[in-house]
Amino acid sequence: MTASAPVTARAPAKVNVHLAVGPLRPDGFHELRTVYLAVSLFDTVTVGPGDGLSLSVTGEGADVVPADRRNLVWRAAELLAGSAGVPADAEMTIAKSIPAAAGLAGGSADAAAALVALDALWGTRASREDLAGLAAQLGSDVPFSLLGGVALGSGRGEQLSPVLARTPSHWVLGIAGEGLSTPAVYAELDRLRAAGRVPDGTDLPPAEPVIAALRSGLPQELAGALGNDLQAPALTLRPELRRALAAATEAGAAGVLVSGSGPTVAALVADEQSAVRLTAALAGAGVFRTVRAVQGPVPGARLVG
Ligand code: C5P
Repeated sequence: MTASAPVTARAPAKVNVHLAVGPLRPDGFHELRTVYLAVSLFDTVTVGPGDGLSLSVTGEGADVVPADRRNLVWRAAELLAGSAGVPADAEMTIAKSIPAAAGLAGGSADAAAALVALDALWGTRASREDLAGLAAQLGSDVPFSLLGGVALGSGRGEQLSPVLARTPSHWVLGIAGEGLSTPAVYAELDRLRAAGRVPDGTDLPPAEPVIAALRSGLPQELAGALGNDLQAPALTLRPELRRALAAATEAGAAGVLVSGSGPTVAALVADEQSAVRLTAALAGAGVFRTVRAVQGPVPGARLVG
């Protein structure tokens, strides 16, 4: 039964602290071995009774996010309604804090929050497992946005094993310039591999060192274990990112990497005070459009209020 009052859910951004990309598969995706970390930057999705579907988007980057069926939230609503056999009726609003096309899984967070909120609005009572199945149909990162915390991802990123790593790590996220298209970054990686400019990805490095480092709670250990195969193609597509990475290192980050397919720079710091200092330094450096201090792990998509 449809609830009469609006329902709100929120879901976090993610950083891939380890992202090893295998060769291109016949289905157009790449085999991954990745360690996802959910961080404390959230989008919220509010849904209420409606006649058919409608969507509005507010907040960070709202002008570049489509408010129609191209949006993953719209597709999440159609998918859940279809699978549960209920009419797809809802007025939906996304309030964005996660920058779009930044390598932070903002669109995936919106889809995961929408699944949780609509499940409550429509009373469809889907299990977490059912929702994870729907999430995987929506995108490779959506199951993680639902799960949150820390997880090892395999397949195209949608197959998850939760990792117990409760010690928080502190990060400063720097968003520079325009967004990057995920397919374009993967395609650039294939091009660099075909040209022999980067390793071909047949031997995926193990994720255990980064998992052990996350569990240790030692920032220096984690800094030494960070790695992202999509960093090289993000840098060839966006050469000025080199300056952004260097700016974060010079300002005192313990470790830096590009988040996912970029262009966000994720700078690891020792503690909350260092995060505050680095945020101020990077905000004043003139390299980044937006700078945010975050920490992780945090839970995945949840109802709020
Ligand atoms: O799963 P998602 O829709 O987020 O993926 C967007 C695009 O990113 C895919 O169409 C593909 O080009 C690329 N991708 C990939 N390998 C993955 C995940 C994504 O090549 N494991």
